[in-house]
Amino acid sequence: MPFKEWQIEIYVFIGIASVGGVVLLRLWLQGPSYKKKTRLDGKVVVITGANTGIGKETALDLAKRGARVILICRDLTKGKKAADEIFLSTNSDVGVYHMDLASFDSIRRTSEALKQQEPQIHILINNAGVMMCPEWRTTDGYELQFGTNHLGHFLFTLLLLDNLKAAAPSRIINLSSIAHTQGRMHWEDLNLTENYDPKEAYCQSKLANILFTKKLAKVLEGTRVTTYAVHPGVVQTELGRHLEQSVNRFIHWAFHFFGKIFFKTVRKGAQTTIYCAVDESLTQETGHDCKRKEPHNNASNEYDAEKLWEISAKIVSMDQFSL
Ligand SMILES: NC(=O)c1ccc[n+]([C@@H]2O[C@H](COP(=O)([O-])OP(=O)(O)OC[C@H]3O[C@@H](n4cnc5c(N)ncnc54)[C@H](OP(=O)(O)O)[C@@H]3O)[C@@H](O)[C@H]2O)c1
Ligand SMILES: *[C@@H]1O[C@H](CO)[C@@H](O)[C@H](O)[C@H]1NC(C)=O
Ligand SMILES: *[C@@H]1O[C@H](CO)[C@@H](O)[C@H](O)[C@H]1NC(C)=O
Ligand SMILES: *[C@@H]1O[C@H](CO)[C@@H](O)[C@H](O)[C@H]1NC(C)=O
Repeated sequence: MPFKEWQIEIYVFIGIASVGGVVLLRLWLQGPSYKKKTRLDGKVVVITGANTGIGKETALDLAKRGARVILICRDLTKGKKAADEIFLSTNSDVGVYHMDLASFDSIRRTSEALKQQEPQIHILINNAGVMMCPEWRTTDGYELQFGTNHLGHFLFTLLLLDNLKAAAPSRIINLSSIAHTQGRMHWEDLNLTENYDPKEAYCQSKLANILFTKKLAKVLEGTRVTTYAVHPGVVQTELGRHLEQSVNRFIHWAFHFFGKIFFKTVRKGAQTTIYCAVDESLTQETGHDCKRKEPHNNASNEYDAEKLWEISAKIVSMDQFSL
């Protein structure tokens, strides 16, 4: 049966309306941008996982503001490539260090070198992260997400504290995630050996990031080193790279396909980190979409923050460390 003319018009109308709807939804999901032009001349910024994704975009923005940015990457080839790109578009001095957050040894070596070179660090951005990988371990034998996202940054931060204090007022920013709301600390089995679940492990590691931030803020009271935890939004990056292996091919494909349409661009995804790094009005915060947002109740539990700190300090042999 041939279409009548009015039927075609309706289909065309529905088609245009759907495309328009998707475009509007995409725009809305992108979230705000940080508009202030605050300069960071003379400041030193250290950022982990800066060769790609949110980290690279953040590094580029802060370099444009005049900061000397130091990229901490586990793959020096990728790191140098990112540094060259940033240098070419900003003419700002960019450094690169090798460090694998999944190895305490590597973290200690890099921190040592970094401390020698940079007596003052004004902004530390703990950005690197791994999400929902298969049941993998760090060099030291810990579950990879807890080990990288939490333990690695815990050790790295403590080792750089003197340099941050020397630069005060200075800031420490942790990339957490909305995923922390579904996280639970598996105190008896932090490695999730009993019943490994890639999502459970990611959520636990992101909850740990906030608990650490809370306790760190307390420890640093009076030093003018302030701490922030950020949810960047849902951003189109390489973070979903392990989904094919840990969940299945379809989820991996869907993550990329819908990501292209609905997730934030990295430019937008970096905005809340940039806001926490440069905005003069801030003291210490958890935030999302360039504004303050309270974390889930479970992340405000001081007893848990205390317990996590003690356990982590023991694991990374920093329990004798005096702050
Ligand atoms: N994307 C989102 O929707 C989203 C949402 C909430 C929170 N976040 C958080 O945002 C942060 C940045 O993620 P992204 O989305 O930009 O992901 P990404 O594109 O996958 O970038 C992650 C970065 O971390 C580095 N990295 C991973 N393991 C490392 C290790 N062991 N040592 C050193 N560096 C390591 C990666 O280096 P290689 O390239 O060498 O692997 C890469 O540079 C993460 O903490 C993530 O949890 C992201
Ligand atoms: C996690 O694994 C490491 C390395 O095998 C082990 O030393 C540690 O006790 C485990 N931690 C927990 C809480 O199970
Ligand atoms: C919060 O923590 C409690 C106690 O550990 C746990 O039972 C609960 O599931 C957590 N909430 C969420 C949303 O995971
Ligand atoms: C960042 O996260 C790490 C690891 O979870 C934690 O040790 C540190 O105190 C946190 N710092 C801030 C500012 O949140």
